[in-house]
Amino acid sequence: MSASKEPQSPWLTWSQDPTDRVPYQVFLDPAIYEREQERLFRGPIWAYVGLEAEIPQPQDFKATFLGDTPIVINRDKDGALHAFVNRCAHRGALVCRELRGNRARHTCVYHQWTYDLKGNLVGVPFKNGLGTTAGYPDDFQTTGHGLQKLLIASYRGLIFVSYAHEVEPLEDYLGPAMRSHIDQVFNRPIRVLGHGRQFVSANWKLYAENVRDPYHASLLHLFHMTFGTYRSSQGGGVVFDSKARHTLMQSYRRNEADEVAAYKGTEIRTYQAKYTLADASLLQGRPEFPGLSIQTIFPSLVIQQIQNTLAVRHIIPRGPEQFELIFTFFGYADDDAEMQTIRRKQANLVGPAGLISMEDGHAAEIVQQAIVRDKDAASVVLMGGRGIANEESLVTETGIRGFWRYYRDLMGFSRSADVAKESTSWTHASAVSQ
Ligand code: FES
Ligand SMILES: [Fe+2]
Repeated sequence: MSASKEPQSPWLTWSQDPTDRVPYQVFLDPAIYEREQERLFRGPIWAYVGLEAEIPQPQDFKATFLGDTPIVINRDKDGALHAFVNRCAHRGALVCRELRGNRARHTCVYHQWTYDLKGNLVGVPFKNGLGTTAGYPDDFQTTGHGLQKLLIASYRGLIFVSYAHEVEPLEDYLGPAMRSHIDQVFNRPIRVLGHGRQFVSANWKLYAENVRDPYHASLLHLFHMTFGTYRSSQGGGVVFDSKARHTLMQSYRRNEADEVAAYKGTEIRTYQAKYTLADASLLQGRPEFPGLSIQTIFPSLVIQQIQNTLAVRHIIPRGPEQFELIFTFFGYADDDAEMQTIRRKQANLVGPAGLISMEDGHAAEIVQQAIVRDKDAASVVLMGGRGIANEESLVTETGIRGFWRYYRDLMGFSRSADVAKESTSWTHASAVSQ
């Protein structure tokens, strides 16, 4: 990685059409990464951080991240949700060092400042001195030395937090089209089945692109194509929210012969008729949802439904060239034992050792490895044209273009004169229906 913290150009100018070319610089530059933490993750957005089902009881807590800032979410003794930065107000240590648990107070290990579940400072050892030492000055107040509090809200059991004090209500941030799908997936109480963690040596935005890209899925993933869990020749398409920052990609089965016929005559390696599953029970689930769905909520949440396996994926940036992906698998509280077994077995489709999505992590890594010395080059995002609009097609990069447009605006990247001129039609093209 470059040692320089300075941006390579005064702020990066996306001098071509901003939606169909993406400068490699945005995946590499430490100064751009820093600006993302400030303007995006600490900006006017709601970031997903966990499920209410992970902290169901009063005093339950979970330590996680907002961007790369460590945070804690917990319930107080009345069950209300609170969120704060996991940084001691004394000298800055992590206050909460466990992933999750249940406790009445958080005590910093360093000098044992103690905070209640609303983040208020309630205990300071030796505050009034010890023996001949004076302790803290008389004007020292515990109020004003609490943990930094964040806004917290939940929708259908998905917990989001925000740094910004002026941010639209969470329901508006999600928008009606995205809420409608969340309502379907989170239609009744859920049960968390387990977690998976995957470290990927690539910029987090390469994964944000990947999950907005239905077109790669039947080309990269041999399993999808061969066993029919997803094919680009299936029915379906992409739906946006009104700002095209979130996407919902859905596919529906047509019939096996037609789906496969669409690939005949093309040189697509990922259809392998000779392969069969040694254990066919992997895909013998129960009818539940009409097809497959991958929903992305800007900036760092993915909600997935593949067959009977349900998961949320949380993307955590770990510097310009690394991210972590946390999968939280879940079913419904009223699942019978057989359904729990089906969901757990199908969890093998995704995750770091899965049959499908470990390839996505590797794809991001081989992009990162290749672009590292070519900051002036750019990737091409032209499949399906240049528009940003709902599409009844799975062969499109429109979701990626929507992501970049919203990202660019939040980041405040300047536009060249040409791009500014084009932006009128660009804005009209973005008027998508809910
Ligand atoms: S840094 Fe936490 S008590 Fe000192
Ligand atoms: Fe994929």
